[in-house]
Amino acid sequence: MRIAVLASGNGSNFEVIAQAVKDKKIDAELVLLFSDHRDAYALKRAEKFEITCESFELKEFTNKKNYETALLSLLKKYEVELVVLAGYMRIIGKDLLAAFPNRIVNVHPALLPNFPGLHGIKDAYEAGVEETGVTIHYVDSGVDTGPIIAQGRVQVSKDDSLSDLETKIHQVEHELYPKVLAEIVREVNSEV
Ligand code: GAR
Repeated sequence: MRIAVLASGNGSNFEVIAQAVKDKKIDAELVLLFSDHRDAYALKRAEKFEITCESFELKEFTNKKNYETALLSLLKKYEVELVVLAGYMRIIGKDLLAAFPNRIVNVHPALLPNFPGLHGIKDAYEAGVEETGVTIHYVDSGVDTGPIIAQGRVQVSKDDSLSDLETKIHQVEHELYPKVLAEIVREVNSEV
């Protein structure tokens, strides 16, 4: 199975996935890291793993449709079979969704359907919840609305700062996401 990871920024989830592929915990080839930010730290992490990188930005195109067409061509060029979003902060358009039915997976830093959107950790923290977590889900046309595959829970202590909570959430993401991807790849491979 040929996997591409899409990441907009730091890339810590990308790195744990790359490590899991390298360690053969995920039975797949990580053929591409794409970032929609040319200066994303994720691209530096990819160099370390010698993973092919491609990057272009929305602002380099006249509209979002053309950007997505270019992204779709890229995924086709690398014969990608599973698209893994890891901190990719854009909504996936309908052409991409149609090209990868049930083959785009996302990680979100909250217990969906609670706290969707760009600031899942902060929104949960400011709401004062005692429990939040991480959701892995298939991507559909909504914002963080696709079918849920797995969730991990995180307790919020009274004395947790926002940064403490971010650390706890990322720990759970780093453990859960590679495991769930390994399982998805196993299932898809067994269908073939
Ligand atoms: C992760 O916490 C991920 O759940 C979140 O962005 C962060 C990326 O971190 N994604 C979303 O909020 C998507 N709505 P990373 O770049 O270090 O992997």
